[in-house]
Amino acid sequence: MATFLDRFPHSSSEPGFLEEFWTTMRAQACGCSDALIQGLFAVNICNHADFASALTSLISAKLTDRAMSEAALMHLVASTLEASPDIVRAAASDIVATFQRDPACPDLATPFLFFKGFHALQSYRIAHHLWLAGRRPLAYHFQSRVNEKFGIDIHPAARIGQRITIDHGTGIVIGETTIIEDDVSLFQGVTLGGTGKNSGQRHPVIRQGCMIGAGAKILGHLEIGAHARVGAASVVLGNVPPRSTAVGNPARIVRFGDMDQDFTNYQI
Ligand SMILES: CC(C)(COP(=O)(O)OP(=O)(O)OC[C@H]1O[C@@H](n2cnc3c(N)ncnc32)[C@H](O)[C@@H]1OP(=O)(O)O)[C@@H](O)C(=O)NCCC(=O)NCCS
Repeated sequence: MATFLDRFPHSSSEPGFLEEFWTTMRAQACGCSDALIQGLFAVNICNHADFASALTSLISAKLTDRAMSEAALMHLVASTLEASPDIVRAAASDIVATFQRDPACPDLATPFLFFKGFHALQSYRIAHHLWLAGRRPLAYHFQSRVNEKFGIDIHPAARIGQRITIDHGTGIVIGETTIIEDDVSLFQGVTLGGTGKNSGQRHPVIRQGCMIGAGAKILGHLEIGAHARVGAASVVLGNVPPRSTAVGNPARIVRFGDMDQDFTNYQI
């Protein structure tokens, strides 16, 4: 019979998804025989009854500071996850997607414990909930702590889907009116920013399934079409068609769909 990990890709709304995810991650983590690391696995995974509890504990421990105790954060995060269980499912789906896409990710416990892109993303999800609930100073506090702690700046008003991979993460900036759909991968140093010339809706829309390479700067209210790729260090100032690849500064299209074509003069 196919195991949970054989049955990729998953939809996080699939019945039993969260339970199977948790059982698999727990079995991987709690079978560890290295005495020195067993305590870390126990505190963060094995001692918890479910994934929501483990996530609450992890995020609270990461974000506590002298203004907000770990206990106060645990209360806030737990009540947020209870009110918005979609966050828990999205977090599990991010881990599964990362395992699926990242050759350097050996199991489900590794991104949960050690990948700061994952930690930043889940902290953002809580901040976004607080933002929508009108608790804006609290949401800004989360944004600020995430930036201080992980070097990743995600505005709490941004809208981000699920099955998202943030690889490495350092230096990522995601502006206020950014929309990121499901199944997107972002590498370190990506900026999804405004041009500085507009107000209102001024940040990019990243459609489903895109890959945005390390250091890419995507500026303005433009669209990166579904399943497009943006090369590392590119500067994108116009729309990128679906399933195409944009590279360079200013970015040009080097591939479109499955065909290799000469897009040297294709303006974006
Ligand atoms: C763009 C990318 C996805 C490759 O796509 P591809 O379709 O396989 O493209 P190719 O490698 O065949 O290159 C096509 C052209 O784009 C150029 N190119 C590729 N990546 C580029 C980049 N990041 N910047 C500028 N030019 C680039 C190639 O030199 C080639 O140019 P040419 O046609 O003039 O010879 C890949 O190069 C990339 O940038 N990936 C990002 C990965 C990343 O960020 N990794 C970080 C890990 S920590």
